[in-house]
Formats: sequence, C-alpha cells, structure tokens
Amino acid sequence: MKDLFFKYQAQTSPFPLGMEVSHAKGSYIYDTNNNAHLDFVAGVSACTLGHCHPKVIEAIKQQADQYLHVMVYGEYAQGPAVDLCQFIADHLPDPLEQTYLVNSGTEAIEGALKLARRVTGRSQIIAMKNAYHGNTMGSLSLMNYEERKAPFRPLIPDVHHINFNSETDLDFITKKTAAVIAETIQGGAGFIEPTNNYLTKLKAKCQSVGALLILDEIQPGIGRTGKLFGFENYNVIPDIVVTGKGLGGGLPIGAFTASKKHMSLLQDNPKMGHITTFGGNPLIAASALATLQEVVNSNLMQETLEKEKLVKDLLLQHPLIKEVRGRGLMLAAITKSAEVTNHVVLEAQKQGLILFWLLFEPKAIRITPPLTISKDELKKGCGIIIDILNKLL
Ligand SMILES: Cc1ncc(COP(=O)(O)O)c(C=O)c1O
Repeated sequence: MKDLFFKYQAQTSPFPLGMEVSHAKGSYIYDTNNNAHLDFVAGVSACTLGHCHPKVIEAIKQQADQYLHVMVYGEYAQGPAVDLCQFIADHLPDPLEQTYLVNSGTEAIEGALKLARRVTGRSQIIAMKNAYHGNTMGSLSLMNYEERKAPFRPLIPDVHHINFNSETDLDFITKKTAAVIAETIQGGAGFIEPTNNYLTKLKAKCQSVGALLILDEIQPGIGRTGKLFGFENYNVIPDIVVTGKGLGGGLPIGAFTASKKHMSLLQDNPKMGHITTFGGNPLIAASALATLQEVVNSNLMQETLEKEKLVKDLLLQHPLIKEVRGRGLMLAAITKSAEVTNHVVLEAQKQGLILFWLLFEPKAIRITPPLTISKDELKKGCGIIIDILNKLL
C-alpha cells in the first residue's frame, strides 16, 4: 500500500509518516500488521470521542439508511443539520444564534471573513502573528510567514498582523478594521494561551471601533479545553465563532456562527453571498450532533482537566521537558531542543505511540489525544515518552 500511496496520492511533505492503517477503535489505530498504536494526536485534534465511538457510528448508520445528499446547502430543511445548528445555538451565549455549516475549517474561516466584510462594509482584517487558520487563499493571507505565502501571492489585500497578547498592539485596531481574527489558544505557535484578560480587552477594543471579533475555535473547541468552546475560559464572547475539526466526530466539517442579524446579510446584496454544495451534509451533521451530545452529556469535559494535570505531573518531572503548555487535552510538551522533539516523535512511533509536531514551534511535542482516552492510557503514553527521553540523558 505504501508504494501506491507514494505513487498516486499527492504528498504534503517529502517525509510523511506513512503508517499503513487497517482500522481504529477507541484510543488506538491498528496498522496492517495489526500493531496497535496509542493515539496521542486524535487526527490532529479532530477525533474528539476517539475512533469509531459507538454513538457516532450508530448516528451515521441511521442517517445513511434515510438519505444522503439531497440538495445544495440552505435550500431544504434537513433534520440533522437543523438539529445540529439548534444544539450549537443552545450552547452558545447570545447573540450567537445562527450557524452556517461548511466542509472544512478553512472554508469556515473564509465564510467568517466574508461575513465580517459584509457586516461592516470595511475591508481591513487584522490577524495575529504566528496564527494558523487554514490553507485556502483567504486563510493563508492571515498567516504572517512570508516563506509560506510568497509562492502563492497575490493573496487577499488589507490584512495586517499584530502580536497575540500584546495590549499595545491593540492600537492598530481602528475604525478601518472590519474584523480581528484570533485563535482562542494559538495552536501552531505552540499552544499559547491568552494572558492577562487579553481576549476581553481585544473584544472591548473591537467594540469601541465597530470591528468584529472572530475567534477560531477549530482546535480548542468541542470540549478540548474543559469547556465546550475554549473562549468560555477567558471571559469573552466573540461576534463570530468558527469551529471545525473535533465537531465532526471524525468526518469533515466546518461551521461559523454569528447573530441572526449579521448572518442574514449573507442572503442578500449579493443574493447568496456564500454558497456551498455539501455544507450541512446530513451524514456529517448526524455525526457532529452525536459527538456534541456525548461531550455535553458525559463527564468528558470535567475529566479533561484532570487528564491535563496528570500529563503535566508525569512529563514535567523530566529534565529534558522544559514546559507543558496549553489547557485540557490541548497540550504541547516543550523539550530542550528541536532535535530532542524530533527524536521523541519518530522513536515513539516505533514504540506504538502516535505523537506529532506543531507547525511553527519546533520544540513542541503535540499531545492532543481523544477526550475519551483513559488515565491508564495517558500514563502508558507518557511512560513511553519518558523512557525515550531517559535514553538521551
Ligand atoms: C486553528 C485552526 N484553524 C483552522 C484550521 C484549518 O482547518 P482545516 O484543516 O479543516 O481546513 C486548523 C487546522 O489545523 C486549525 O488548527
């Protein structure tokens, strides 16, 4: 299979991990030799309830027996999408009431940017340095790494960057600004949390100049930080919240949610200001709803904080781990050097533990397991990391 993978499937990097997957269940992915790999990555924060959670599979099967795609998004009332949007509204503060469902995180970001420009009639977008919001042209424009952008220019104009957590940089937000966009916790940058009420101050500044605040919850959302939405930890309510990844229960999804008043502007002037064929797909919406229901109706969110403490206690004992950043099960262990991190990630794979890197912080080991991972599984995985590090002393 690997040869065919390299021959026919377009590659994203010269050295993909290339595990040949047979099946996956709970916290484990099994390769074609039936080796079990403990999953500390969860499809990069996407498999909220682990692999093939019975309630998610049941919801998908039930919907598959009813109907699949019937019409482009927004024309017909389809139960799974309606129920999903209602559930999201019921669990978000006012005025976040209407959700637009799309197919991926980056597409939801595009929708949010369009909405902000439509609402304010302004063009300027302010994004954060070291942010990651996806890879389509608009989302790529929000990134400040020139070497990743240069080959694809021209990108969307009037995007400016400020430093996350810098109060002085708030001065760059003015009456020209349509929106400020931030990840609630910066992911690719190294799982950087907002400090000193930064998001509250950011929202106040946006409000004072009539700009919208867009919070990207694609990674921190859906229970991963101990709250259904990460921003609930930081005393802020965004004007637009963007979700994806873990919302889908293992199927592709993106969503942006705003007030009914704002969202209604996408209907008109121009008519159909945002359209998508497969957004709100019933199979995916059923999977997402089952995922959200389980996250909300179980103890998973509360346990996430206990699991955070366990991982921090276990890993911070080691001299080669300098820091464990993040919240809940969105954690990054920062080692002494990029070489140490590389060695740990690659060696762990040989020992049956799946780890991964972060985009822009080479010393970070990503630890974003399914929320359903047990404490024993966490102990086992952290034990493997510690053993690998011990051999480097
Ligand atoms: C914070 C954040 N925003 C946006 C995206 C893009 O989502 P997708 O890959 O589904 O387009 C990601 C994906 O890693 C992300 O972590």
